[in-house]
Amino acid sequence: MCGIIGYIGDNGALDIGMKGLKRLEYRGYDSAGLAISNGKEVSCIKVVGKVEELEKIVGDKDLVGSSIILHSRWATHGGITESNAHPHADCKGNIFVVHNGIIENYKQIREKLKLMGHKFVSETDTEVLPHLIEHFYNGNLEEAVIKALKYIKGTYGLVVMAKHNSDRIVVARMFSPLVISVNEHGGFVASDPSAIISHSKRMIFLEDGEVAVIKKDDFIITDLERKVKDKKETELDWDIEEAQKSGYAHFMLKEIMEQSESVANSMRGRLIIEEGISKLGGIDSVKDKLKDIKKINILACGTSYYAGLIGEYLLEELAGIPTEVDFASEFRYRKFPTVENEAYLFISQSGETADSLAALKEVKKRKALSLGIVNVVGSSIARETDAGVYNHAGPEIGVASTKAFTSQVVVLALVALFLGRQRNLSLADGKTIAKEISKLPELINNTLKDISAIELLAKKYNSASNFLFIGRKYSYPVAMEGALKLKEISYIHSEGYSAGEMKHGPIALIEENFPTIAICPQDSVYEKTVSNIQEIKARNGKVIAITTQGNEEIKSLVDDIIYIPKVNEVLSPILSVIPVQIFAYYMAVSFGHNPDMPRNLAKSVTVE
Ligand code: AGP
Ligand code: GLU
Repeated sequence: MCGIIGYIGDNGALDIGMKGLKRLEYRGYDSAGLAISNGKEVSCIKVVGKVEELEKIVGDKDLVGSSIILHSRWATHGGITESNAHPHADCKGNIFVVHNGIIENYKQIREKLKLMGHKFVSETDTEVLPHLIEHFYNGNLEEAVIKALKYIKGTYGLVVMAKHNSDRIVVARMFSPLVISVNEHGGFVASDPSAIISHSKRMIFLEDGEVAVIKKDDFIITDLERKVKDKKETELDWDIEEAQKSGYAHFMLKEIMEQSESVANSMRGRLIIEEGISKLGGIDSVKDKLKDIKKINILACGTSYYAGLIGEYLLEELAGIPTEVDFASEFRYRKFPTVENEAYLFISQSGETADSLAALKEVKKRKALSLGIVNVVGSSIARETDAGVYNHAGPEIGVASTKAFTSQVVVLALVALFLGRQRNLSLADGKTIAKEISKLPELINNTLKDISAIELLAKKYNSASNFLFIGRKYSYPVAMEGALKLKEISYIHSEGYSAGEMKHGPIALIEENFPTIAICPQDSVYEKTVSNIQEIKARNGKVIAITTQGNEEIKSLVDDIIYIPKVNEVLSPILSVIPVQIFAYYMAVSFGHNPDMPRNLAKSVTVE
């Protein structure tokens, strides 16, 4: 999920490497490191904090080298420490690895390698890679890498160097992007083109299951069966900024479009479908306490609060646990009665939101169990809660939260499944939910196909200066989130409302140019929401419906339709939120706004 660059050649490895790593800083990271080879020895330097910390240490050393690998880490497994920073090495200090992604089965591999005598020095999942490669190493580096990768489950963008194979760098890709370029300046590899585009615009994007051996003036690409792949070079016409966004116009659009991958990462290694359960290592330590929990209080802000509203339905429906959701900023002023066996669940992308942190401090005074669902590893809320589940959604750069929201809802579904199966949720129902969750990445890809139709809708409605979003049950928080997305990046006034509540007041606003977006998948409350749509149409209000593919009957009732695939009702927000994210994005762009940096907003609100 974070930054990688590697180089082999005669044009100054250290300078090329450091400059390339700085180009990857935009992604946000928590630590950095490098390994540089002079053909005989490898020097490895790692720091917690920013690349300039690395520069300071490097500046004092005379590090000349012909090959180098560098990494900026966005921690998923193991805290933010120097020993957890990459590169990671084998026991003999011959093999050095930098890795983006998540090794799902690292615990089993680590235990086996320890039994064989391998010594581990970090808490990361990544560190199994150099030791596994060492296990197979007999002098041929690429052969050892391929043998090792056959045991790996999970995702990797992987770059490997070895002291005794100083004429090459071996790289491999599985779900985590890598691009290579061998040109007149030498051999390059990076996690995104921005790190190497200043040296050449001719690149090869590796695909999943491909391995490349890169030398300073040559390369070969094979699959994991060592069958040679004949890959075409791509000539990029991007500038560096466009490269950082993988060619998308804004980080927000990139993050909307990568939700299939981020949701897949959020559930990776956490679903055991045949047992109908979820496996959440981060709450293992409190699982016995969780059995006795009789009430859950969810505390969050903004988009995370709306995810919490969905969590309320999920926890009550799947686990039968009474749940209450409150704005963290309000909770602190309530005379909130404590009850026996309650837990407080904090949802926060950044893990640094001041209102949520202040509420957490209040909760800790009550000695109540506190849990976190947090995206940024090692952040304050992650550290200060008793236990929790990381999103693994990857860095979210756009100020308006998108992939973090869908990841939060997936993790809430996993938590509800976990708690439900500790209680009365049957094996059969657990398997049904687990199977539905596992289908989400593909359903998200299907939902994203409609993006150009939604862009046209944004243009069609961009003369409106007010919008109403309505939904019931699981779609009500999506209506709130859709209204928040639209107002925070397009600056159009928008209200999110429970569809049932709409007739108790807001319907007075409805007129020709006050359109409504109705979130109405064909679920248990669909007919009721249709009645609310009819009430709006009776007052000449325009309605855009977000509904289930195949729903023909609604065509005669509404003005425009956005379809989403059929999915179990409890998971429908993960699909129905995507059209409202895209609608808000294109509305903002139609007004010439920069959706990545909306006025008056910050990515993490660290003030109260
Ligand atoms: C959402 O698009 C906004 N950026 C904002 O409401 C955000 O969700 C809120 O500030 C909470 O942030 P957190 O999830 O990092 O705690
Ligand atoms: N899972 C690895 C770690 O936690 C890699 C994280 C990343 O992709 O930056 O160190």
